[in-house]
Amino acid sequence: VKDATLLNHAPLSKLAADNVPLVGPIYQSVKFTTKPWRALSPAELKSSYFYSRESNPTVRQLETALARVSRREDAVAVGSGVAALSCALLAQLKAGDHVLLFVESYKPTRHLVRRLLGKFGVSHTMVSVAEAARLQKHLRRGKTRALLFESPTNPMTRVVDAAALAAFARKNRILTILDATFGGLHNHRDVPIDLMVQSLTKFAGGHGDVMGGAVLGRKELLAPVREAAVHLGPVLDPHAAFLILRGLKTYAVRWERHCRNAQKVAEALAIHPKVARVLYPGLPSHPDHSLALRQLEGFGAVVAFDLGPSFSGTERFLRRLKIFQVAASLGSTESLAAPGELFFAGDLSAREKKLAGITRNTVRLSVGLEDADDLIADLERALK
Ligand SMILES: Cc1ncc(COP(=O)(O)O)c(C=O)c1O
Repeated sequence: VKDATLLNHAPLSKLAADNVPLVGPIYQSVKFTTKPWRALSPAELKSSYFYSRESNPTVRQLETALARVSRREDAVAVGSGVAALSCALLAQLKAGDHVLLFVESYKPTRHLVRRLLGKFGVSHTMVSVAEAARLQKHLRRGKTRALLFESPTNPMTRVVDAAALAAFARKNRILTILDATFGGLHNHRDVPIDLMVQSLTKFAGGHGDVMGGAVLGRKELLAPVREAAVHLGPVLDPHAAFLILRGLKTYAVRWERHCRNAQKVAEALAIHPKVARVLYPGLPSHPDHSLALRQLEGFGAVVAFDLGPSFSGTERFLRRLKIFQVAASLGSTESLAAPGELFFAGDLSAREKKLAGITRNTVRLSVGLEDADDLIADLERALK
């Protein structure tokens, strides 16, 4: 054969059965060959790889790792956290269904339910987490199919009683979907939520250089989610899956440091005269502190606060930060600051913003892994 043919068919390295790499390889291949299809047993058909939009060994390694750490039966990994939310919702809902959600949720999540699903005949009711214990009156008989919530919430870090919501949903035969991104991978393990959603872009990847998302839960509930993912196509690339798998190795150490730094930053802000209010679930002054102590192992990286009345808006303050970078996202190594109203509340009415507790002076921090004293000094300098 000629060079062009030869070079297109480089033989794969063959490893003996007991000679295995310690780090899983990146199966950066779209296609996989098998023995003739007709010769495959049903079990082989199920476990074989054919085409990477449907399944890929590196992505599968990640799914297995996520299911194990979250103590769920299985996981479906996709290209972003929003893709995970949309696959979960589209798989479980149909025209005529009704969804309950909270004002205190990520803006694209609200968009997905209010705008996109609305176009396909799914109705919704959006209430504040302050009403979480009184949801009964918002149920629509025979129609309410799902309760979608976050904990802690983006951006104001409210903690929702996940076990109480799960019990309420079970009693009323509605599906619970918890976006657990702010609480990381190890929290909410024992809560009987039907589907858990994670943005892997945050604490799982951890370095701000890769996007991914996952839906976790019982296999039976995940089957339609996987089907939706295969047919809608928000694939997680194997190289991205590899980077997230690499991130997972340091997850526990990073989580601890994020939480320690965030606690110190929150405490420093709480006593600063130019700060009107600080929300961090680890502060005793947080409205859900006692619930957070029961429900969470570590309070996460996000601290929300309101600048005091000497500021009219967040811009002047944000422009003076040097270590904190002004950007969206959270849970990566570097510290970030974002204007709360501009980034997270553009779709909310004045009344809804009030319910969510977001003002023009609200700042959301994602506290990174730098030295906490340097971070506090940066904030104090900008406040001055
Ligand atoms: C709570 C929450 N859910 C979902 C997402 C979406 O994740 P992604 O950006 O990976 O789509 C985010 C992103 O900030 C988030 O904060």
